Amino acid sequence: MAFESVARILRMADSVVVLTGAGVSAESGIPTFREALTGLWAEFRPEDLATPEAFERNPRRVWEWYAARRASIGKVQPNPAHIAVAKLETIIPRLTLVTQNVDGLHQRAGSRRVLELHGNIARTRCSREGRVVDAWPETGHVPPHCPFCDAPLRPDVVWFGELLPQTVLEEATNAAASCDLLLVVGTSGLVYPASAIPHAALAEGVPVCVIDPADVPLASIPGVLAIRGAAGDRLPALLSAAWPD
Ligand code: OAD
Repeated sequence: MAFESVARILRMADSVVVLTGAGVSAESGIPTFREALTGLWAEFRPEDLATPEAFERNPRRVWEWYAARRASIGKVQPNPAHIAVAKLETIIPRLTLVTQNVDGLHQRAGSRRVLELHGNIARTRCSREGRVVDAWPETGHVPPHCPFCDAPLRPDVVWFGELLPQTVLEEATNAAASCDLLLVVGTSGLVYPASAIPHAALAEGVPVCVIDPADVPLASIPGVLAIRGAAGDRLPALLSAAWPD
């Protein structure tokens, strides 16, 4: 039974990598990426909003969509899945958390070291120079302009068609390929290069566990330990099984 095997490996593990996707924030009330956009933005597709071309075409609309997302994320709380991952960081000597999410909920749950493959919606950067900007004069421009070079500011996230931060990706891939257990939680595994990380682990014989209510492609690879269920339920249960006292 996968659950018992994973709990046993987890208990003995010195290094664990946790790779999370939108599913780990689903129980906080944040729609996963592949659920339809809701409400005001229902008529748009992510590809119409989360790309450099969309920003070029209509910077105000893209900025306002991210402002709306930031506002809705500010209203939700980390869920038991985020809290379990933060707790794991206090137990496992070497825990590496790698997330595709931009919502910052892992950090709000207490995770201290988070490798953000796709950036973070709470951060803003200059669209020309790339530097992160914490404050800017309110001039009424939407999006606001960079206080250093006057270019439009943008969310510090990776858009479709953009490169991921390569050092972060390398660190995540190397950690996954050399750890005692890789937990893949709440990701459809459809988006490259994040989706290549579990395969780097499998190639090195690292035990890989998938936690997802759906039967995602990774779960059907021979040898992968699949635990079907919600992250907010299965992750706390896994920690209780690994450390029953
Ligand atoms: P997806 O929406 O593709 O997949 C979410 C996964 O979470 C699915 O496999 C769901 O079955 C699963 N899921 C849903 N509820 C869950 C729960 N309660 N517990 C556990 N799993 C649950 O989201 P991602 O795989 O994260 O990239 O998408 C990856 C990337 O695609 C995103 O980071 C984004 C998008 O393009 C960029 O923005 C660059």
